[in-house]
Amino acid sequence: MERNPLPRLDNNPHIRESLLPFCRLRDGEIWEDPEGKHRVGCLDAANPDNVSLLLHNFSAHLAINDPPYNLIAFEERSLIEYIGWCERWVRNTLAHLAQDASCYIWLGADQNNQFQPLPDFMIMMRNFQELKPRSFITLRNQRGYGTQQNWMAIRQELLYYTRGHPPFYVQYTEIPKILRGYYKEVNGALTENLQRSKALTIRPGNVWVDIQQIFYRLGENVSGCYAQKPLRAIGRIISASSDQDNVVLDFFAHAGTTLLACERLRRQCFTMDIDPVYCEITIRRLELFRRHGLLGWQNGDPFAGCIEDIRASSKESDLLTPNRQVSLFE
Ligand SMILES: C[S@@+](CC[C@H](N)C(=O)[O-])C[C@H]1O[C@@H](n2cnc3c(N)ncnc32)[C@H](O)[C@@H]1O
Repeated sequence: MERNPLPRLDNNPHIRESLLPFCRLRDGEIWEDPEGKHRVGCLDAANPDNVSLLLHNFSAHLAINDPPYNLIAFEERSLIEYIGWCERWVRNTLAHLAQDASCYIWLGADQNNQFQPLPDFMIMMRNFQELKPRSFITLRNQRGYGTQQNWMAIRQELLYYTRGHPPFYVQYTEIPKILRGYYKEVNGALTENLQRSKALTIRPGNVWVDIQQIFYRLGENVSGCYAQKPLRAIGRIISASSDQDNVVLDFFAHAGTTLLACERLRRQCFTMDIDPVYCEITIRRLELFRRHGLLGWQNGDPFAGCIEDIRASSKESDLLTPNRQVSLFE
């Protein structure tokens, strides 16, 4: 395993700064996929003009938004301010959702601070009557905190809303059906659960216990990123709630997980991040997959060798103005 990880970029502002010259996008710019499929913008999710620039006249069939949670390890602001900010990007999401669409939102609850922001966010969502709440999913992490004095905190929350009547395709885990016990009469005979079932494995339901949390030994790990979601979790959402060639939007790209999952599942992804470094990582992760079939850098550095690579393939004047980049202000 290559051992050349980037440290967490949120804790290392000087390293983040030193990567900026190697980032293709600046504030307000959009990368257009040379294969004509996806877009990545260095944009602000709370700004309606920024969002319109990314989406143009496209409507998304699925939105998967994973904002900073306003707790541990993430930038914290006052709860009122945070919820007001969420209301703005949810409004921007809704403005670009198709009439029949699904909307998933990842969030956390701080057990040391009134479980904020989850309940406040859920109540705020009642302002959007068009979005119907459908499920409240919990993803179980393997690592957590509070093992001796409290129940270990190992959960992340995923809210599922729909507008209109989007598709929903049942998904299965790889966990075998092992429990008996639910009897029902079929054609006069009493049958047990296992006899009736069509699948050999269980459905994930709304508690997902079968997805490995990201850590440095996994191939899909993207070092430097502090909040990367597993591809399997995002893939499950996409497979359940969209069809091939549908447009999927994700306002908080970070490690580019939604973009990569869309590429693999043949959806079109429009994504953004306010930080040019995460935009660059998102684009590089797609390029890495297309060139080498890899899902991430495991314990390696997404920017490794970039100085040499960039110098070898570009004129100096090209470095900060790559092809196919569109400026917000043009
Ligand atoms: C929790 S991470 C998203 C993780 C992502 N789902 C993944 O799997 O890699 C949140 C991201 O939101 C970005 N962000 C924060 N405020 C933003 C804003 N106003 N507009 C767009 N992106 C923002 C941060 O830079 C960070 O990369």
